[in-house]
Amino acid sequence: MSALSAFAVPVPVFTPDATINEVGERMLQADLANALSVAVVNAAGVPVGMISRHQLNDIFMKKFGRDLFGNRPVSDFMRTDVLSVEMDSSLSAAASFITANMHFPLSEDFVITENGRYLGMGAVLHLLGAMEQQMTRNVADLNRAYTQLASSQAQLVQSEKMAALGQMVAGVAHEINTPLGYVNNNVEMVREFFAQMQFILQAHEQLAATLLSPDATDVDIAECLAAVDDMKADLDFTQWFSDLDQLFNDTFYGVEQISELVTGLKNFSRLDQSPTDNVSLNDCVENALLIGRNTLKYKVEVLKRLGDLPQIRCAASQINQVLLNLLTNAAQAIEDRGYILIKTWCDDRMAYVSVQDTGCGIPPESLRRIFDPFYTTKPVGEGTGLGLSISFKIIQQHNGHIRVASEVGKGTRFVLALPLTSIAVPLSAVA
Ligand SMILES: Nc1ncnc2c1ncn2[C@@H]1O[C@H](COP(=O)(O)OP(=O)(O)OP(=O)(O)O)[C@@H](O)[C@H]1O
Ligand SMILES: [Mg+2]
Repeated sequence: MSALSAFAVPVPVFTPDATINEVGERMLQADLANALSVAVVNAAGVPVGMISRHQLNDIFMKKFGRDLFGNRPVSDFMRTDVLSVEMDSSLSAAASFITANMHFPLSEDFVITENGRYLGMGAVLHLLGAMEQQMTRNVADLNRAYTQLASSQAQLVQSEKMAALGQMVAGVAHEINTPLGYVNNNVEMVREFFAQMQFILQAHEQLAATLLSPDATDVDIAECLAAVDDMKADLDFTQWFSDLDQLFNDTFYGVEQISELVTGLKNFSRLDQSPTDNVSLNDCVENALLIGRNTLKYKVEVLKRLGDLPQIRCAASQINQVLLNLLTNAAQAIEDRGYILIKTWCDDRMAYVSVQDTGCGIPPESLRRIFDPFYTTKPVGEGTGLGLSISFKIIQQHNGHIRVASEVGKGTRFVLALPLTSIAVPLSAVA
């Protein structure tokens, strides 16, 4: 059923030759008491005009109006620009047509037609009322949809963060695993060495006890000495001690690497620090490089040209996240082997970081979309397409900006700029 059918009241119509008196008298009758106007319809049933109560009053109020004009046909006075809508129009199409064409003060209702022929009259006020109700419903629907969207966006941001965290944790776990592996081996070797030393010690103890024993014969002493000598012959002590030294050095190096990674993780997430902090972007670059080391090391050579930067107030963990995403994107854009050049510098207003890669580049039609949420060219499971849109938001909330230039086949350069002055960061929006 058409939305307009509820408005189509079959108000009687007039032919163009009906007189003004006839129309006037008819409009006084009860069934037309609420009609603002009536339609004038030709022999084919097509509305050709409208005459309103307002116009009739004008005529009858004139001096001798009834005598002068009453017998004249309604077609002489009617408005011919009929406010007419087709029955199958939507409520909103009808309302926008009528509000655009109606006259003030409101003295006409509108005609509803079906295939161009008169069907009934609709009241403008009823239509506007229905529109208002629909708008109220729409606003409520929109509000509901907005709340749902906001919550699913928050969930997505959260899942992107979890995915990024998952990747990062996997990378760091891998990084920790390597030194942990050889620290483990080294400790194992030291244990074997001490097991051997224990035998030697026992042999020496045996020798000492024999030497001190009044009952020991020369043969006993010679046997003990021979046992000690055999053990010494099996073991190259000088070599052993130098190996041992190396083992300890390697072990300390491994432990240092592990603790460096753990500090890096702590700095990266800044869990033990306040949400905003005074940091140098150079430190953020180093943190992101440390955490992203596993993704980068097999195919990328990282070149750094870090300038002197003052500390700036920012949400460092968020800036770390942005930089890690830029580095990861750059590494993922490099197919075989390539370079990433990281530069930092500042002027009197802003600090800048640029991340430039020798990857595949971004074609111009994609370049417009890379900051859109969910835009990704990566296979399912590798990219969610949220990295740059979140990065954009983070930098925007720091009153900074992020720009990109790219050439297909040559590479891409992202430059992010953050103001040197203190920054208020509404963390809730990205947290
Ligand atoms: N350095 C780059 N070189 C080439 N293309 C890039 C580069 N950085 C981003 N892009 C393009 O922009 C798209 C969007 O990047 P974005 O970081 O938002 O998402 P993603 O990396 O695909 O997924 P996610 O970051 O969620 O893991 C990428 O899929 C890629 O097509
Ligand atoms: Mg990304």
